[in-house]
Amino acid sequence: MPTKYAAGNWKMNGTRAALAEAEAIAKGAPDGAVTLICPPATLLAAMPESLASGGQYCHPNTSGAHTGDLSPEMLADAGATFCITGHSERRTDHGETDAHVRAQTEAAWRAGLTAILCIGETLDQREAEQTIAVLTEQLDGSLPDGATPENTVIAYEPVWAIGTGRVATPDQVAEVHDFLRGKLGADFALLYGGSVKAANAAELFALTNVNGALVGGASLKAADFLPIAEALAAS
Ligand code: PGA
Repeated sequence: MPTKYAAGNWKMNGTRAALAEAEAIAKGAPDGAVTLICPPATLLAAMPESLASGGQYCHPNTSGAHTGDLSPEMLADAGATFCITGHSERRTDHGETDAHVRAQTEAAWRAGLTAILCIGETLDQREAEQTIAVLTEQLDGSLPDGATPENTVIAYEPVWAIGTGRVATPDQVAEVHDFLRGKLGADFALLYGGSVKAANAAELFALTNVNGALVGGASLKAADFLPIAEALAAS
C-alpha cells in the first residue's frame, strides 16, 4: 500500500505569527498518514520538529552564484525532508520547463529530500481532451529515472482547480489517478491537489488510487487542515 500524505503548501503566505498554526497542526496530526507543511523558506528552520516540512522549490545546484535561489542542501539543513517540484505556479511564473523540473527533482534526491512532483493540465487542455497526453508528456519530461516510492510522491493538480474553489469531480480525479497508477505501478503515493477542503476531502480519499492531497489555501489554518488529514487517516 502506498503511504498516505496530507501535504500543505503555504505558498507565499505566512510570517512567524503563522508558526502557531504549524504547532497546532503538529499537535493534532493523526496517526495513519504523514502530515507535512511546505512553508515559505523563511519559516523552515522555525517549524516544529515534530512536523515534517518541505521546500516549495529548489535550485538544481548545491551552491553558487544564483542570487535569490535556494539549494536542496540548504532546505535540508533548515529541517526540510520534502521539496515540491514543478508546481504549476512555478512553471507559469518562472517559466520552469519539464527539463528544469527533472533537474530539481534529482537535486532534491541528492540532498535526501522526497520530491513532491506536480503535474496538471490547464482548462484549455482539458477541454481539448488533451489531459492524458499532457500528463504523459509532463511525466516523461520531468520524472527522472531512478524515481522510487520512497524518493518521489506524485501530485496531480489540474491548473484550473488550484485556488479557484472548483475542485475536480471524483470521476475526473479517478480517471487521471487510475492512469497514473497504471503508468507508475502499485507503490507510488498519488496525491490530488486543487481546492481540497474538509468538505470534499472524504469523497476524494475514497477513490482507490488517491493516497492523499496537496492542499494550498486550506492548509494555512490548523482548523481547516486537520480535518483533511483526519479524513485521509480514516480512509
Ligand atoms: P489550493 O492549492 O488548495 O489553494 O487550490 C493547491 C496547490 O496549489 O497545491
